[in-house]
Amino acid sequence: MPPIPTAELHLHIEGTLEPDLAFALAGRNGVELPFATEEELRAAYSFGDLQDFLDLYYALMTVLRTEDDFADLTNAYLARARAQGVRHAEIFFDPQAHTARGVEIDTVIRGIGRALDAAPRAYGITTRLIMCFLRDESADSALATFESARPHLDRIAAVGLDSAEVGNPPSKFREVYARARQAGLKCVAHAGEEGPPAYVWEALDVLGVDRVDHGVRSLEDETLVARLVADRTPLTVCPLSNVRLRVVDRLEDHPLPAMLDAGLLVTVNSDDPAYFGGYVGDNYTAVRDALGLDEATLRTLARNSFQAAFLDEGTRAAYL
Ligand code: ADE
Ligand code: ZN
Repeated sequence: MPPIPTAELHLHIEGTLEPDLAFALAGRNGVELPFATEEELRAAYSFGDLQDFLDLYYALMTVLRTEDDFADLTNAYLARARAQGVRHAEIFFDPQAHTARGVEIDTVIRGIGRALDAAPRAYGITTRLIMCFLRDESADSALATFESARPHLDRIAAVGLDSAEVGNPPSKFREVYARARQAGLKCVAHAGEEGPPAYVWEALDVLGVDRVDHGVRSLEDETLVARLVADRTPLTVCPLSNVRLRVVDRLEDHPLPAMLDAGLLVTVNSDDPAYFGGYVGDNYTAVRDALGLDEATLRTLARNSFQAAFLDEGTRAAYL
């Protein structure tokens, strides 16, 4: 069966850095990696929790230095995504993870932007760019990052919130989200991945998010589920990620069917596919096999992805 056409709404571009490209960029930029071979690097892809993954994710992205590096990374993702059914991609990037190493935000946005500009013609994929704040950095750092991105806001569709969740509630970022909304941007935030349902409430009520990234722990709070269903708030769920980061023990135990049964607007996405064992089509195949989802359910998930995307209504109608 060819892959089902879908929109990918939860994808960290830095999380698409495959070992072969990481070594190529390390060589090109004279960066020393703490791994001798690609196999040695792959052997490190076993994570106890989110922080365990983040430590490797931030270490490996130090190979990304120039505009060309960011363009090459993005092009490599787009080529793989197209082969897995992606027609529209809303792509996260983490500017603070680069500016902290001396790479200018303009370099990052220009490099990613160059690949995204060519994507409709080169890959048949429309795109949006989502700028994430690192929640384990300060609220002031998020504000400074937002201000430094102002010259590029015509390229940025939304702001997001990622990195270490527990101990860094959404309410910490009230001000920067207010500023982003005032500038006409959409808002999303990771919430309810490792953090409690209270963080999903804060993302909705304090940040005013249009979508919740992950949100799987919402199921622990019936009133929250009712709110998400009533508002048709989309949840960007990442099944293979949830297993690799031990949010769920086994894919067979994943709450995706329960989320669908509850009437939530759920989508399937890949998060950091180079690290978690698969791109979006692989996630669809994995949930089909592990959870026994039929084709109609997979098509519902794909349809949800276009419903949840930040598309104008004409484009959405063309995808649906
Ligand atoms: N950054 C990259 N992937 C992430 C995830 N799954 N959760 C939080 N922050 C992230
Ligand atoms: Zn994520």
